[in-house]
Amino acid sequence: KSIAEESNAGGGAAAKPKESSSITEHLESVFGQAIASAFPEFRDTPVIIAPVNSTSAKFGDYQCNNAMGLSKKLKEKGINKAPRDIATELKGHCPASPIIEKLEIAGAGFVNVFLSKDYASSALSNLLRNGVTPPEVIKKRVLVDFSSPNIAKQMHVGHLRSTIIGESLCRLLEFLQHDVIRINHLGDWGTQFGMLIAHLEDRFPNYLNESPPISDLQLFYKESKKRFDEDEEFKKRAYSRVVSLQKGVPNSIKAWELICNVSRKEFQTIYERLDISVKERGESFYQSRMLSVVEYLRGKGLLEVDEGREIMWPDDTKTGIPLTIVKSDGGFTYDTSDMAAIRHRLEEELCDWIIYVVDSGQSTHFNTIFKAAERSAILNPLSHRVDHVQFGVVLGEDGKKFKTRSGDTVKLADLLDEGMKRSLQQLESRGRDKVLTPQELKDAQESLAYGCIKYSDLCHNRISDYIFSFDKMLEDRGNTAVYLLYTYTRICSIARNSGEDFTNLPEILKKTNIVLAHEKEWKLAKTLLKLHDILIKCSKELFLHFLCEFCFEVCTVFTEFYDSCYCIEKNKQGDIIAVNHSRILMCEATAAVLRQCFYILGLKPVSKM
Ligand code: ARG
Repeated sequence: KSIAEESNAGGGAAAKPKESSSITEHLESVFGQAIASAFPEFRDTPVIIAPVNSTSAKFGDYQCNNAMGLSKKLKEKGINKAPRDIATELKGHCPASPIIEKLEIAGAGFVNVFLSKDYASSALSNLLRNGVTPPEVIKKRVLVDFSSPNIAKQMHVGHLRSTIIGESLCRLLEFLQHDVIRINHLGDWGTQFGMLIAHLEDRFPNYLNESPPISDLQLFYKESKKRFDEDEEFKKRAYSRVVSLQKGVPNSIKAWELICNVSRKEFQTIYERLDISVKERGESFYQSRMLSVVEYLRGKGLLEVDEGREIMWPDDTKTGIPLTIVKSDGGFTYDTSDMAAIRHRLEEELCDWIIYVVDSGQSTHFNTIFKAAERSAILNPLSHRVDHVQFGVVLGEDGKKFKTRSGDTVKLADLLDEGMKRSLQQLESRGRDKVLTPQELKDAQESLAYGCIKYSDLCHNRISDYIFSFDKMLEDRGNTAVYLLYTYTRICSIARNSGEDFTNLPEILKKTNIVLAHEKEWKLAKTLLKLHDILIKCSKELFLHFLCEFCFEVCTVFTEFYDSCYCIEKNKQGDIIAVNHSRILMCEATAAVLRQCFYILGLKPVSKM
């Protein structure tokens, strides 16, 4: 029975949960209706629903905390009503919902919600029948600007963070059915190309006919920089190459492309190893749009001349740091390209959401760009959302900036190689090389290596700095990729070892009900059903560590379940004497939920590890 029969005093239509709505959202709608019907003058009050974290089952699963606030508001109007009484009225006005088993008033005026087992059981059956479906959200056209390394410079650990976080955000938003545009805002433009081109002309005079074998572009960069600083004649030529590049003179464009290709190849191998997909649209793409955005801003009277430069203040107070839109030599800057880019994204790409995944060091830059875009009517905060998804720096185990032993910056390819080496050692230390076939071992090694590098980045609050430690990330206990991947593999093996075929789930579901009688079965069911809440929370706040914590919770709650609930019963001889179908279905549901989360987090589970 639901609460309808007892307490539907409000009389509103029963609240029907959409299969695709999250539990929190459904409860928000139930209590929203209750507030509107019991206290119509406060119908716009935001509903406060919180999951109950208490281990004690007597407080229920979720809680509505609106009574205290409503009591205050009533008092302002001269009406005295105790929060507990308000809570009772809210309870009485809640429309019937199949999700809710019962409501109880507790403490100062909380309404505790107890979820219905029938609902949970059918929700899990649906999940097994249809796969994990996304919660319903308002669809947006969202551009994610991530990775974005710079040509001729090392792609460093900061870019690695942006790459990992950006890829996972895209996967999350794509799963939620948003229209996602993945953009690599490559640093492929700017005055440094003048000296690189001039140096190329000298070192490889035949570059137009034969691809120059530049093996170390960083070194090439250093050489050209040295000449630029020491040789006046070279410097002049470098400047003239910047001009010819911006004008689009074919030879300079060709030289520039050759140089870019060297870096591009290096970046691509990293992307392939980490399974990253991103479309290149570097700063050079905006050359003509920089010219037009400057005209646009000038036309609006927003540019001010300051010591020969043209600057723009983020707002009318003219405080803070202005953007440099045109340099005194007439050239453009990083600010100019970001103004051109935001305009292109909003006005031409027609995005309504832009996400920049860039280190915290650039937060002033992005705040200024956002304000300036608003001031110049490029961005309308009522219809556009812009986020700087910032992250902290990567530290070594000594707590200092991440460097190699000799003090050099760490090459990403070397870092990934080291991860491969360490994960093989991890597998060997557990004797896995003796049981797995060479192919299985290699798959497990890759899954562990890249999985642990991604996961150790994603599982912390991205804003804080994080300590890069292979030892820590390869631990098989705690909230690590290793623990999650092992647990997943174990879960998958349960159905396989039952001696029965669990591949045709829709067929099996016709004959089997999911029973949630045991306390641990019920706990696991409720944990799994939090998935939609978590996904929505992650996409609202753009934090992925919530999803990692959820995976860890699923694995630990699963382990509790598995320890106290027999899925397969064996006799003393080790023969299977009973298979609990409902529980095996719970295992399969757990695996399905984890699989979806792993995909978003970039973890590739393997069937044997
Ligand atoms: N290339 C820049 C860097 O390495 C990051 C670019 C980020 N995106 C942007 N639209 N500014 O610092």
